Amino acid sequence: MALRTIRVEGDEVLTKVSRPVDKMTPRIHDLITDMLDTMYDAMGVGLAAPQVGILKRIVVIDIGEGPIVLINPEIIEKSGEQTGDEGCLSVPGMAGQVTRPNYVKVKAQDEDMNEVEYEGEGLLARAFCHELDHLDGHMYTELVEGELHHVSYDEDEE
Ligand code: NI
Repeated sequence: MALRTIRVEGDEVLTKVSRPVDKMTPRIHDLITDMLDTMYDAMGVGLAAPQVGILKRIVVIDIGEGPIVLINPEIIEKSGEQTGDEGCLSVPGMAGQVTRPNYVKVKAQDEDMNEVEYEGEGLLARAFCHELDHLDGHMYTELVEGELHHVSYDEDEE
């Protein structure tokens, strides 16, 4: 298992737009494995490649229902609204209220570069939106309503 260093807010890599992945390579496969290891080690529910300093359109998510790997993901449908606390491994120890769609459908490619679609509601919809924003250089802190607040270490972070 190889853990990667998680970049924190202030690192300019987090503000950049990531590039699409055009083919799977052993190196990208290793990156995905490392991203999953790094996310689980940090007790997160999602991680985007720019958070480990790689400007590629790759996201991993696990809200406790098994790993989801998204390559070149796009939101193709969304509906409803939810407002709740959100956090990010790149903003350690903090959370803030963010309004997101309550339902999101995502189109992406999997690790074999096959087309896949996922539907998410609630936390999964929130995770899709949060992680995809990272690929365009956006952080949830831009969307927070009110103030960021400190969270204890045992709370989930995205
Ligand atoms: Ni994040």
